[in-house]
Amino acid sequence: MAQVAEEHSEATTSGSELSRRNFFLRSIGAIGGLIGAIVAVPAVGFLLSPLFEKHKKAGWIAVGPVTAFPQGNPTLASIVTDASSEMPFKQGVYVVNQGGGNFDIFRLNCTHLGCPYEWNPAAQKFFCPCHGGVFDLSGNVVAGPPPRPLDRYKPLVKQGVLYAGELLLGGKQPVA
Ligand code: FES
Repeated sequence: MAQVAEEHSEATTSGSELSRRNFFLRSIGAIGGLIGAIVAVPAVGFLLSPLFEKHKKAGWIAVGPVTAFPQGNPTLASIVTDASSEMPFKQGVYVVNQGGGNFDIFRLNCTHLGCPYEWNPAAQKFFCPCHGGVFDLSGNVVAGPPPRPLDRYKPLVKQGVLYAGELLLGGKQPVA
């Protein structure tokens, strides 16, 4: 009788060990699946991002009539980015009419730490009050800590209206 009880006990222990093992194996499988998903989702997003970028780049935002931006006199304006979203963002810009139908649309944030800067007509320079960054009329760094020229939006003039396109960091590579 004692032997039967002992065998039953061993069988129960073996059964509980088996279910514990199953539990651990399933847990490990679930954790592995979760890690796989965490790794895969950003990778898929990265692979698909050009599609969204293409869509984003297709948009041109009206800045204003070109007559509102006289040559040699940087003019403050604003553009509404993400206008179709629930949280449209108003971005300040300086528009510089460089003459000959060429415009620069500078983002109103210093390329050092993002402070808004100001045009100083007497000095013919943009000055950032935060750490003394200075930029010339073309957005190039003249003095101070800014690491690159002013960020600017790609300009387009169509039927007398100036439009802002994709944002170019330091005037060069598109912002992802
Ligand atoms: Fe403009 Fe630092 S934020 S110089």
